[in-house]
Amino acid sequence: MIDIKINEAPVSRISEVDFSNLAFGKEFSDHMFIADYDGIEWKNFRIQPYGPIPLSPALSCMHYGQAIFEGMKAYRGIDNSIQIFRPYDNLKRMNESAERMCMQPIPEEVYVEGLKAVCRMDEKWIPANEGSALYLRPFLIATDDFLGIHPSRNYMFMIYGCAVGAYYNETLKIKIETEFARAVKGGVGEAKTAGNYASALYATSIAQTEGFHQVLWTDAFEHKYLEELGSSNFFILSGNTLITPAANGTVLKGITRDSVIQLARKLGYKVEERLISIDEVIALNNEGKLDEAFATGTAATVSPICELSYQGVSIHLKHKENSVAGMLKNKLENIKRCKEEDFFGWNEKVMMTQTA
Ligand code: COI
Repeated sequence: MIDIKINEAPVSRISEVDFSNLAFGKEFSDHMFIADYDGIEWKNFRIQPYGPIPLSPALSCMHYGQAIFEGMKAYRGIDNSIQIFRPYDNLKRMNESAERMCMQPIPEEVYVEGLKAVCRMDEKWIPANEGSALYLRPFLIATDDFLGIHPSRNYMFMIYGCAVGAYYNETLKIKIETEFARAVKGGVGEAKTAGNYASALYATSIAQTEGFHQVLWTDAFEHKYLEELGSSNFFILSGNTLITPAANGTVLKGITRDSVIQLARKLGYKVEERLISIDEVIALNNEGKLDEAFATGTAATVSPICELSYQGVSIHLKHKENSVAGMLKNKLENIKRCKEEDFFGWNEKVMMTQTA
């Protein structure tokens, strides 16, 4: 057990929030968790009111980019229990990112107890409505006050919460990106590091001015093989087979991606993690065998794609009433809300509550 010092917010902001109409990423809950690493040990575990923190202008994360983060969600079950979805898998990925970025890993008890402390403090912020959740954002930054490049000795680990609705409210129009690249073999594409998102902004903003929601990245050398979307992983369905690009260094190992793979296999679908070329997708479409395409992510959940555009020519995918993407999304939501059995043991129980 870690000893967490609690400084409660004098006033809650919760009455200002319209939980029936939650946008994504705006409604930060009242508290945040912070821990410091001083080169020797993790210490100063504390909960404090959500808000600005004083930082030195020479902080190494702001200049040399040692900054990693995670995303996960806390849910209110139909029995009013509070659970976090797959926190140990998120921690594993966070510490893999930490290793790749030469950062200090987070001990399991600091991570999980920090998450639970935020959920307990801000339990009323965890919505009951379908499609909503308390998004939890753990992040780790290098805090050496130093001008020069080396792995930082000091770190700050924080977790804040944000009450969220859907990240995407529409089916997605996607541009297959063949000019810019997100990741190369041997690079940091697999790490959930801030720079990966910054470097994606330029191509994404061009795609958005062209009317697309997102880009679908391709390999950096030939722009021939599909990788991932800027915000999520990518799947196609052909018959009874789901196909997703293999996560072998340039693709983020999405927790929702893995949940969809495990769930689909349990439901009898064949799932292939492998190279998918643009030519293969076009050929499947020409043969009438491209049944669905969809995105997966903590924020995106399972989001159907209605258009894939490649060098100005679009593949249009029809919306289906009983789509496999929709079925997988509902099943995942039901597991998280304790409406269906959690066969995989994905939910980490935090507490039982009285309120809905
Ligand atoms: C997530 O899905 O949790 C992410 O970090 C992606 C981001 C677009 C919000």
